[in-house]
Amino acid sequence: MAFTSVRALVRVLAASTALAGCLAGSAFAQSGEVNVYTYREQKLIQPLFDAFTKETGVKVNVISASSGLEQRIKTEGANSPADVLLTVDIGRVEDAVQAGITQPITSATLDKVVGPALRDPEGHWYAVSMRARVIYASKERVKQATITYEELADPKWKGKICIRSGQHIYNNALFAAYVAHHGEAKAEEWLKGVKANLAQKPSGGDREVARDIAAGKCDIGLGNTYYWALMNDVETDKKAWADATRVMLPSFQNGGTHVNVSGVVLPKHAPNKANAMKLIEWLVGDHAQHMYADVNYEYPVRDGIAINKTIASYGTLKADAMPLSRVAANKKAAANLVDKVGFDQ
Ligand SMILES: [Fe+2]
Repeated sequence: MAFTSVRALVRVLAASTALAGCLAGSAFAQSGEVNVYTYREQKLIQPLFDAFTKETGVKVNVISASSGLEQRIKTEGANSPADVLLTVDIGRVEDAVQAGITQPITSATLDKVVGPALRDPEGHWYAVSMRARVIYASKERVKQATITYEELADPKWKGKICIRSGQHIYNNALFAAYVAHHGEAKAEEWLKGVKANLAQKPSGGDREVARDIAAGKCDIGLGNTYYWALMNDVETDKKAWADATRVMLPSFQNGGTHVNVSGVVLPKHAPNKANAMKLIEWLVGDHAQHMYADVNYEYPVRDGIAINKTIASYGTLKADAMPLSRVAANKKAAANLVDKVGFDQ
């Protein structure tokens, strides 16, 4: 887009010290903006950026895409205008780090707010919000109060489970967590068991799991915490799907509920690094964390921020203690197992 040319223009203008003074506060002043590349839906994050701009005066330029941003930053190389990459899913966060496009973030503020399980030990990524991978269950047909991920392979669920593709990043991360907990051999056995319990071929997204439960095609399925809340509170055309289902917080037998993150990385060549840091630190501040809770229906990473009341109605989240870096390290193994057992076939 226009960043490169704008930056070129700024460089030309800044070369003249006489003009440089006039630039302060103008839309062209590099110090007044930050370029964010993001995988997040713009309607979900624009309110955050608007609030940031209002509070700091720093303009946020957004490039959003559904894939390929790491590659794009890599290709742009030293000329990349990307100051912040905002992404969802630990796998994608790790992809960015593996692509070599990041630089470590050094921030006492972030270290204080974001717990060690939710950040890279070397500082290459930090989580800014969390979501959990949970069970949507038929209100009518599922009476039990608790459930484990392990139990999804129990033959008692035969023909009763709906799920999206086993290769989707949300399931990939959960399956990778399973591998991290139990090892590959047991994970394979489990995946075979879950597959044997499926009511239909994996398809659709998380919302369609609730839709199919409502239609009586299955009794339980996997979904992220925020989709159910959105259907219940916001998406009136899907309210019936939420009404027919309830959310259960599952856990690993010897652990907690699988959580994934939305996270930030600082690109290696960020031209507006100071503003990038300002934005990243702002995202874990009080205001942004409240917005993550109430606008995005996510779990804040900062202590002391109230969880949205629909999300809180699921029960108290006990996040799995497995470090996300270990989950990410097993995502390839999980993807291979999904192919090996023909999960999506
Ligand atoms: Fe999502």
